[in-house]
Amino acid sequence: MRPKIIAGNWKMYKDLHASSELIASVVSRVDFDLDNVRVVVCPPFTSLELAHRLLEGSPIALGAQNMYTEDEGAFTGEISPKMLLAAGCTYVIIGHSERRQYFGETNVSVNAKVRKALAAGLTPIACVGESLEEREKGITEQVVGTQVKALFKEISEADASRVVIAYEPIWAIGTGKTATPAQAQEVHQFIRKIVAQLYSWPTADKIVIQYGGSVKPENAVDLLKQPDIDGALVGGACLKAETFVPIIRAAVKT
Ligand code: 13P
Repeated sequence: MRPKIIAGNWKMYKDLHASSELIASVVSRVDFDLDNVRVVVCPPFTSLELAHRLLEGSPIALGAQNMYTEDEGAFTGEISPKMLLAAGCTYVIIGHSERRQYFGETNVSVNAKVRKALAAGLTPIACVGESLEEREKGITEQVVGTQVKALFKEISEADASRVVIAYEPIWAIGTGKTATPAQAQEVHQFIRKIVAQLYSWPTADKIVIQYGGSVKPENAVDLLKQPDIDGALVGGACLKAETFVPIIRAAVKT
């Protein structure tokens, strides 16, 4: 059975002091059996090492929010997968819509980063999703299908099954507007079908597909109950243990 993965994308929030408070608070509240649920926190780069130390002995894994495609070199401002591994990361978010929108990431760069993350031994959480305009034009499947096909370019079937996909409709990010469970399920099922076309059904059935976009304790159970929704990539609600941990509980319950 596929695991469920609940990941918290902290985005550009929490300095060192606030990071240590949040990690301590999450760790102390996750005192229940996680069963088949994996939990990941993705703080800003500056808090990774501290978070790694504070997470020691807990079942919670560490992820980064971005990386570059080289191990080292004259690339001012960039962070390599090797550095992330050394800081204790096992996951890395790639191609978040905010990186596509504000930092010029494209389907091509996202694919390069996914390949590099896999080669380095990190689990990529690759993000896809349509804008409101695209949804209203009725081209959600076309947009998401293109993004999914692009992100798997030149990736072997064995590696493909290690990729986590996060479906995040852009219109639902930070807006309080959640896709209905049925709307999300429809796209998740479509994504799995594309993966089956690219590889095979056994591989498509292994792939974890998270939903992201205004996930909260109030809507988590209904979303996570859907057959093709295998977890959540949480933004705003992961910034407080009081709202993040109930989402983890919802995943354990469903
Ligand atoms: P919100 O949960 O704040 O809508 O953010 C979702 C997101 O972008 C997670 O990556």
